[in-house]
Amino acid sequence: MKVLLFTEKPFAPAAVKAIENVVNASGNALEVVEMGTRADLMEAVKNANGLIVRSDKIDGEVMDAAPELKVIVRAGAGYDNIDLEAATKHGICVMNTPGQNSNAVAELVFGMIVMMCRNQYNGKSGSELKGKSLGIYAFGQVGRNVARIAKGFNMNLEALDKFVADDVMEAEGVKPVHTPEELFSENQFVSLHIPATAETRNSIGYDLVMKMPEGGVLINTARKEVIDEAGLMKALEERPDLRYVSDIRPDAAEDFEKKFAARVFFTPKKMGAQTAEANFNAGVAAAEQVVAYLKDGWNKYQVNK
Ligand code: 3PG
Repeated sequence: MKVLLFTEKPFAPAAVKAIENVVNASGNALEVVEMGTRADLMEAVKNANGLIVRSDKIDGEVMDAAPELKVIVRAGAGYDNIDLEAATKHGICVMNTPGQNSNAVAELVFGMIVMMCRNQYNGKSGSELKGKSLGIYAFGQVGRNVARIAKGFNMNLEALDKFVADDVMEAEGVKPVHTPEELFSENQFVSLHIPATAETRNSIGYDLVMKMPEGGVLINTARKEVIDEAGLMKALEERPDLRYVSDIRPDAAEDFEKKFAARVFFTPKKMGAQTAEANFNAGVAAAEQVVAYLKDGWNKYQVNK
């Protein structure tokens, strides 16, 4: 059977080699299309039985073009790029690879925080993290890794996650809070790890950001869709002490950069999971999951059931 690896943003070469080894060892064949266009995808999926992607958009039109497709694995955590309803209608199993790239994202959070606290390394006096408060919005795999690293900086930690019991957070030395208002008003730094869902879209805006203490820094390594950009912009206009750093360029990135200069920073392309290690871990997990599904229907991480 054919497994297609399609990515607009390529994996490290060692990860592609490892994916190939897993697929070949299972007796299946791998086709690799990296930095591919939508037209490339539509052509290559025609006879694919399994598909491995990253943040690439997989909608009903792609599935219509892929009559043999049985399984899609998103090599990563967030699966908002895949139309789950269409997949279910097509009888396609969709899985993600939870936890495989979470350390990479968590490390970037601190790279971004330190960069902002040292004024983007412009030579001006900055500030330290020790003893400062960090609010972690969603205590999943990335949030827990953020907490682990933050302890090394001696930060005080709070987290908000309605799906995680208080004692789980307390066991990690993290104080649970139960509303976004508490999280934003009690922490100078707030790091977002919520997925983009109908509930979270545009949920971080003016009211919440204005609650942040003096010198507030909002860190977004999650999804741009969770931000109400107009509301955030208004808050940054009214509060010159606030800063925003994001691994996902906002739609209005140029306006933000023009208005707020060094108070904002955006990576040119989402880089959180773009490490050799995360590429390898997520890529190999995805390959193993695809071949296991094709072999005997293994579906531990199915997200459309
Ligand atoms: C994820 O959801 O796993 C991260 O956002 C990484 O996405 P990427 O594979 O597009 O870098």
